[in-house]
Amino acid sequence: MTTVPAITLNDGRTIPQLGFGVFQVPPAETAQAVATAIEIGYRHIDTAQMYGNEQGVGEAIASSGLDRGEFFVTSKLSNAKHLPDDARRSFDATLAALGSDYVDLFLIHWPLPGRYDGDFVQTWRALEEFYRDGRARSIGVSNFTQKHLGRLRAESDVIPAVNQIEIHPYLTNEQLRAYNSAHQIATEAYSPIAQGEVLGDPVITQIAKDAGKSPAQVVLRWHVQRGDIIFPKSKTADRVRENFEIFDFELDEGAMASITALDRGEKGRTGGNPDTMNWVPEA
Ligand SMILES: NC(=O)c1ccc[n+]([C@@H]2O[C@H](COP(=O)([O-])OP(=O)(O)OC[C@H]3O[C@@H](n4cnc5c(N)ncnc54)[C@H](OP(=O)(O)O)[C@@H]3O)[C@@H](O)[C@H]2O)c1
Repeated sequence: MTTVPAITLNDGRTIPQLGFGVFQVPPAETAQAVATAIEIGYRHIDTAQMYGNEQGVGEAIASSGLDRGEFFVTSKLSNAKHLPDDARRSFDATLAALGSDYVDLFLIHWPLPGRYDGDFVQTWRALEEFYRDGRARSIGVSNFTQKHLGRLRAESDVIPAVNQIEIHPYLTNEQLRAYNSAHQIATEAYSPIAQGEVLGDPVITQIAKDAGKSPAQVVLRWHVQRGDIIFPKSKTADRVRENFEIFDFELDEGAMASITALDRGEKGRTGGNPDTMNWVPEA
């Protein structure tokens, strides 16, 4: 039985270092996909209001036969719901969709510097309410840069427990990881295999061959050894299992360094840039 290491957050709570992400899992397929992940052993699920599939996550947990307390569930505030009253209503809807009276971790999904007069601090204060009333056991942010985090530190009370940002071998994001760590903010690495783009890289395929593991396992192992929290997504049961089997081998320093050296900086980014991403879905 695989034991997933736990990371302790700055609020004293713990989070499994490996979870299952459900971005781009269609709502109608989510309950089945999450049920498969639970069967394999995953206990940490990463969803979001904007993924439209929180309900499927809740259904899979409810039908798992396990206690709610066995799971760590993260959701994220929609870009359309940053005004505090909207945030409050949508947080209630998240709990209803998940079928739970709390969420383990709730995040601001994007800072949206060009929306809401750039005032993500008022949004953060709404999340602080959810934290204080216990309905969000931990709160954090996603896609926040140093500048955004500095503003939260100066203008609010609670330090985010995590900052969820894009990280993989083509975008290693070292400076922001170091900033997070210097401020006791845990780093969550999203799109950990760059949505599949890094898997054919010759450096990675060679290390995989030497280790007798798949390229995805090698990249996920690299993240784990760096201490980041990850939640790869797959709709394919065999891959979900493969992505879980990363705790029975180790990469040596040379392999770790060769993977880190693949960094392409901004050019390696697959998702939105937090400084310019201002997309808001139809409410
Ligand atoms: N906060 C944010 O703004 C943000 C943004 C993006 C993602 N995220 C979170 O991070 C999670 C993971 O990121 P992601 O979904 O963007 O990308 P990812 O996990 O890096 O990659 C997912 C893609 O890789 C494929 N894949 C998965 N495992 C594989 C394996 N072992 N071998 C070969 N291919 C494999 C999947 O294919 P199949 O599904 O077809 O098998 C899918 O196309 C998301 O689900 C979400 O929870 C957060």
